[in-house]
Amino acid sequence: MNIAEKDFFTDRDVLLDPYAYFEAIRADGPVFRMTARDVVIVTGFKESAEVLLNTADFSSIINPEPLAPLTFEPVGDDISEQIANAKAANPALELLVTYDGDRHTAARSLLNPLFTPSRLKANAAFMRDFADAMVREVVAQGSCELINKVATPYVTLVVADLLGVPEEDRQKFRDVIDAGPPPGSMDTADAEQGAPQGSQALMFMAGFFFQYLADRRANPRDDVMTELALGKYPDGTTPDLVEAVKSAMFLFAAGQDTSAKLIGNAMRFLCERQDLQQQLREDRSLIPGFIEEVMRLEGSTKATFRLSKRRTRIGDMEIPAGQRVVIAVPAANRDPRRWDDPAEFRIGRPRIKEHLGFGRGAHTCVGAPLARVEVAVLFDCLLEQTSAITLSEAHHGPAEARRIDYEPSFIIRGIDKLYVEFAKA
Ligand code: HEM
Repeated sequence: MNIAEKDFFTDRDVLLDPYAYFEAIRADGPVFRMTARDVVIVTGFKESAEVLLNTADFSSIINPEPLAPLTFEPVGDDISEQIANAKAANPALELLVTYDGDRHTAARSLLNPLFTPSRLKANAAFMRDFADAMVREVVAQGSCELINKVATPYVTLVVADLLGVPEEDRQKFRDVIDAGPPPGSMDTADAEQGAPQGSQALMFMAGFFFQYLADRRANPRDDVMTELALGKYPDGTTPDLVEAVKSAMFLFAAGQDTSAKLIGNAMRFLCERQDLQQQLREDRSLIPGFIEEVMRLEGSTKATFRLSKRRTRIGDMEIPAGQRVVIAVPAANRDPRRWDDPAEFRIGRPRIKEHLGFGRGAHTCVGAPLARVEVAVLFDCLLEQTSAITLSEAHHGPAEARRIDYEPSFIIRGIDKLYVEFAKA
């Protein structure tokens, strides 16, 4: 079968390694109509950015379940009203990332003040201490499985600390998140129905966040949870407690897999490219630029989704109302019309922060400043405490024949397990 005819959502080869597929469909132009499904995939950088910025023509309502049936039957060339009045296909996943228009602006306004530089600075001390201790432990052991032993617990506890989740509850959240598959995973029984998993963990956490926020409304403290509990919409009204619960819970969940998988993807580069590792060891101020280039070339978001509200165009393609659209973030980030030698890893590319790894426009990742700092702090500690980090050949094979398993998810791009070995500094 021609690779471009494969199903982006379910084909195992494409799920595990999407890049050959993206390049094959790019040959058809920056916008591709799938043959296997009534779905359009955008691989062009310019076209992807245009769709993400165009909230008049595109809705986020199908995030993060782009294949779930709509709860209404689209009629005519403009279904904006139908979308605005639609019930959520899955109420557990009816979160900020699915909202449109005024509802989105209002909910988002509650989160924007939470990631200010001063707040992150205060949290950075915790990150540094925590990362330092965690790295010390694994470096002393000489080796570890990075994703589950370091990356995931680290990012979970950083966001738990930022939000003010009590210590005694943090492990419970970790357990319930670990028990479920990652978002967009097609490795489960329900995968054939095209339904990604992951809402059980959110439902579990909702009860806890409801208690925390109700408590903060009654007994305010000096923490992010209190700010969320007492936050007001721009028109001065107070959000329903349920809305604040959804925001807190989503913040907690949204940054976990994405940040942990970014750490894994970045570490793979650092191990495979010892010259790069050496360069960063000699000048750790290059770490933030290194992370941006990993975000571009191998960021942890594989796709985000939109539904067209009315008849429109993407590039040269006519798009009817009700069209499901995949924004193939890594493909846009490797578009040769935007990036010179796109497959090459280069620190210091001009205007690198324009990559779409954190999205663009109204829904741009609210946690991006946190993700950037937490990953940089961890790599700083890793490089400071070691003289060499390498991949375990026992687990991953020799350099010329690596075996590295990626999650079979159409949303997340990330390594399942990464075994690394350390030489102490
Ligand atoms: C490397 C790590 C991360 C990556 C790659 C990432 C990626 C993204 C992307 C691409 C979007 C836009 C989705 C869209 O337009 O449909 C997004 C939205 C979002 N992210 Fe992140 N994210 C990361 C970390 C985080 C963290 C640490 C948090 C919070 C603590 C977070 C919270 C959010 C929220 C709340 C939204 C929804 C914003 C909205 O709809 O207005 N993310 N993220």
